[in-house]
Amino acid sequence: RWTIDPNTRNWMASPELTAAVRDLSDGHLVAVPTETVYGLAADATSNEACAAIFTAKGRPRFNPLISHVESLAAAEKHGRFDERARALAEAFWPGALTLVVPKREDSPVCDLATAGLDTIALRVPSAAIMRDLAAASGRPLAAPSANRSGRISATTAEAAAEDLGASLALVIDGGATPVGVESTIIALVDDKARLLRPGGIARDKIEAVLGTPLFAPEGNATAAPQAPGMLTSHYAPNAPLRLNAADVRPGEALLAFGAPLPEGAEQAVAIENLSPRGDMVEAATRLFSALRRLDGAGASGIAAMPIPEAGLGEAINDRLRRAAAPRD
Ligand code: TXA
Ligand code: MG
Repeated sequence: RWTIDPNTRNWMASPELTAAVRDLSDGHLVAVPTETVYGLAADATSNEACAAIFTAKGRPRFNPLISHVESLAAAEKHGRFDERARALAEAFWPGALTLVVPKREDSPVCDLATAGLDTIALRVPSAAIMRDLAAASGRPLAAPSANRSGRISATTAEAAAEDLGASLALVIDGGATPVGVESTIIALVDDKARLLRPGGIARDKIEAVLGTPLFAPEGNATAAPQAPGMLTSHYAPNAPLRLNAADVRPGEALLAFGAPLPEGAEQAVAIENLSPRGDMVEAATRLFSALRRLDGAGASGIAAMPIPEAGLGEAINDRLRRAAAPRD
């Protein structure tokens, strides 16, 4: 475990950075904090390293990974950016936006990272540690969220270590992630800009830059998922989750939002209020850690209050719907 202060970059000349870069270059897995969630990072140019990601997460191999790079210039070595893609990158990078664009034939990113697709998902995170690791290792870093596939995403180093500890060469602890939900994924591969996954940057901000509405993902979702949006059960706690709850039933824990609390709240096994004042940004930050805590409270189920669809509410509701979806 290596603890950093994400608000400084005083790791630049440290032996720990050198060790982390060596781990990544050797094909090992490193848990890295980003502004959205913790990433399970590996060399995106190595099939062996990416295979280790899929094994550690128990993730289906048809589900491609995001490649993290230090700059738009670095991203353009791997993907073809049209005017729309460049406008979004310039507006939101570094930040919680992933762009899916046509993959360049000469990109060294391995087939396992892109699941053999002719497109690639690229992100320049605002978390400097991930950018610095990519720059220092001289390669893009593939990084899905640092949790077992289908489970609640990790927003703390403890959560990442708890889920994946045995597979990790190193855990970099930068404290709780500030955004709290994964990046927004936009595909720019045909004439329509498509929202593949709502996330840390709200739809209306992206539409304002594009000057056009975002479209839904193309085609049959279940055959070849374009984003985890298409894998119906995801982000799931062990306890069943009940959405839009107007009451709390005996034995249930409560995932609250705003006020007043629903009927029966006083007998809830545990309560987490995502934002007592109804603030969406705060609610997103707390979502996954609140779910993890409620899941650990020994309740027979989790009742979730309704959350408005506005702003980051779209991403929060997306995660909650998947967390509540039937499991296989
Ligand atoms: O905030 C985030 O995006 C975090 C942090 C660590 O950066 N990462 C993350 O990765 O959420 P992950 O693997 O949990 O979700 C990325 C999703 C994949 O599930 C995949 O469906 C989609 O991005 N994706 C990747 N490459 C794609 C491609 N070429 N076309 C369509 N979707 C793609
Ligand atoms: Mg994930």
